[in-house]
Amino acid sequence: MSPDQLPPVEIDTENPSPARVYDYVLGGKDNYAADRKAAGRVLEMEPHARDSAVENRRFLARVVKHLAGQGIKQFLDLGSGLPTMDNVHQVARRHVPDARVAYVDFDPMVLAHARALVKPDEGVTYIHSDIRDVDTVLKGARGLLDLSRPVALLAIAVLHFVPDEDDPAGLVATYARELASGSRVAISCASTEDVSPELVNRIRSVYDNAPSPLYLRPRDRIRGLFGDLELLEPGLVHVTDWPVPSGAARLPLTMLGGVAMIP
Ligand SMILES: C[S@@+](CC[C@H](N)C(=O)[O-])C[C@H]1O[C@@H](n2cnc3c(N)ncnc32)[C@H](O)[C@@H]1O
Repeated sequence: MSPDQLPPVEIDTENPSPARVYDYVLGGKDNYAADRKAAGRVLEMEPHARDSAVENRRFLARVVKHLAGQGIKQFLDLGSGLPTMDNVHQVARRHVPDARVAYVDFDPMVLAHARALVKPDEGVTYIHSDIRDVDTVLKGARGLLDLSRPVALLAIAVLHFVPDEDDPAGLVATYARELASGSRVAISCASTEDVSPELVNRIRSVYDNAPSPLYLRPRDRIRGLFGDLELLEPGLVHVTDWPVPSGAARLPLTMLGGVAMIP
């Protein structure tokens, strides 16, 4: 189907969307007043929230560079977000020119961008799906990726939008079971570390009307998202300190991140 035959993308501009709030915080232009208001509330409560988002994005780029340097050529990016400066395929291809990337998101704005930008015949695809719908995601991924060979499963700043009742650890385990030995699982998540319970609740309330609420989790619960998988060095750390300590001052609201290997 040519792009002009596709059904129009419906965008809810009245309520904040995590993809657009994040875009605004990172300095992007794909956001509406509701998103800017929500971002403004978070930044008012915690001015370091912008630095945390930037550091998370840098973590993502370091992980992709590191894994590409280890010969990983395939990436499945869950909750990819809106296109920004250095997207996964751009970072990966600096190191592995034929890297293939399947992006997944459920935000209609991301779909609109993907229709304009993504060309599956160029080794990049976009799967418009909730990441909890593993069958749809994997069916789409198999259209581009060879799951019998190692894949980097990226779940960067997305699992904190999956509630406990939807078993985010079980979700990661389900994906991991479908991936070849030598695949990697990279996760970063907003944590409750160094954040007062009162601030956790106030930040959470900003996303009350968003398509998915926000669940900041303590360190052990974030470690639990990897299940039995063994974490590569340096383990689960503040994203600024992966793969080596940065010496940067610890930010309140810093995300925790790590990478595990599928045996
Ligand atoms: C904070 S952004 C992170 C973007 C990117 N991974 C990064 O770290 O720079 C979170 C993204 O996850 C998407 N998302 C949240 N819950 C999702 C779900 N259940 N299924 C698919 N996408 C989801 C949002 O739409 C948003 O684009």
